[in-house]
Amino acid sequence: MKEWNPSSWRDCRIKQQPIYKDKELLKNIENELKSYPPLVFAGEAQRLKQLLGKAVEGKAFLLQGGDCAESFNQFSAINIRDMFKVIIQMGAILTFAGSCPIIKVGRLAGQFAKPRSNDIENINGAEIPIYRGDIINDLEPTMEAREPDPKRMIKAYNQSAATLNLLRAFAQGGFASLNKVHKWNLEFVKNNSFGQKYEELAQRITQTLDFMEACGISLESTQQLNEVEFYTSHEALLLNYEEQLCRQDSLSGKYYNCSAHMLWIGERTRGLDEAHIEFLRGVENPLGVKVGPTITKDEILSLCDALNPNNESGRLNIIVRMGAYKIKERFHSILKQVLPEGRKILWSIDPMHGNTIKAPNGYKTRVFDNILDEVKSFFEIHQAENSYAGGIHLEMTGQDVTECIGGSQKITESNLSYNYNTQCDPRLNATQAIELAFLIADILKKQKQ
Ligand code: PEP
Ligand code: CO
Repeated sequence: MKEWNPSSWRDCRIKQQPIYKDKELLKNIENELKSYPPLVFAGEAQRLKQLLGKAVEGKAFLLQGGDCAESFNQFSAINIRDMFKVIIQMGAILTFAGSCPIIKVGRLAGQFAKPRSNDIENINGAEIPIYRGDIINDLEPTMEAREPDPKRMIKAYNQSAATLNLLRAFAQGGFASLNKVHKWNLEFVKNNSFGQKYEELAQRITQTLDFMEACGISLESTQQLNEVEFYTSHEALLLNYEEQLCRQDSLSGKYYNCSAHMLWIGERTRGLDEAHIEFLRGVENPLGVKVGPTITKDEILSLCDALNPNNESGRLNIIVRMGAYKIKERFHSILKQVLPEGRKILWSIDPMHGNTIKAPNGYKTRVFDNILDEVKSFFEIHQAENSYAGGIHLEMTGQDVTECIGGSQKITESNLSYNYNTQCDPRLNATQAIELAFLIADILKKQKQ
């Protein structure tokens, strides 16, 4: 194999990249990014890898969630806070009701670049370049707005830094302390049945804490009860950006991609001889790869060879996203063939991307029951093979949006227009996310028994 360096991907075939017209500007922006501080520290990525290793062994569960695409316009402390609240609420539900340590990884502080099915889109009879995420171009459907602009990488970096700063403050500054478990419930969630179910769970947690305190255990000095470990992740799609944040760790001499703790490769860019695999094989972070219904056993093994040649536990997360119907047809036989090979794989399920449909009224949406159905099939197939279903990967938000159909609020196709606010794919709203967490907690509990 050829020697790796942070720019060796440039010699490979690459998909899903913008074509920047001003090459000199691009170079200047890249150099500027290279001079900026890393967003995460190598030791944190290493720690996450250890935790994910526990999930490979069946002793923890990965909860990964966030926006499909972060947005420059919707950047606000409230949006970050509410996303954080819902993720730690789901974490509490899964930990308490599912009796399992939950590894919390946000799809945020860097989730900006989007792979697309088409390069162009037709607006009122005119063809314009497709939107590729705020780090590349603008959502507004005009020719000018869709021109890729390298300066957007600087804005994305700054927004990621500010987001991460707030997340770290929330995670460590007292907000995530278990004695505030009641405060995480969002106002608009409180009044529905799953919001109330959460209140009951919070009540039980509070009683448990009171009991521990009465027994003489000091809650204040127990760090695990006052802080959460919260990690970030995104699709490492725009390699002009990712390369510049790739840094050599002074302690180990190894390279880390310091734009996030964990990076994944999407379904469309996981070609074995392509640039994304080349780039990520050389960094030490934990990695994910999305796999759709066309994946084969041999491809999974080749992905393991390329990305995890030392068969390190926690390094590689295979994120299955086949859709509610195809997972039933395809996944069982693949899992059966892969398991005897002894590869250390963290298997998780993305029940979003194989279940996207276009509603008759034109909205891109997903049906809650299909999402749940794919999750259930994933767990059942693992159980049948005595294998561990170790995580879930969701597109969700802390806002009260109407982007996915169904759930306890019974959102219908005609409700979608009320608050359809996504930059890209439809997300579970806070209520739907909490509902799903309770349903998964039940499955985890049964699995444990
Ligand atoms: C995504 O996670 O937003 C995405 C595009 O996923 P996939 O690569 O699985 O289609
Ligand atoms: Co998406």
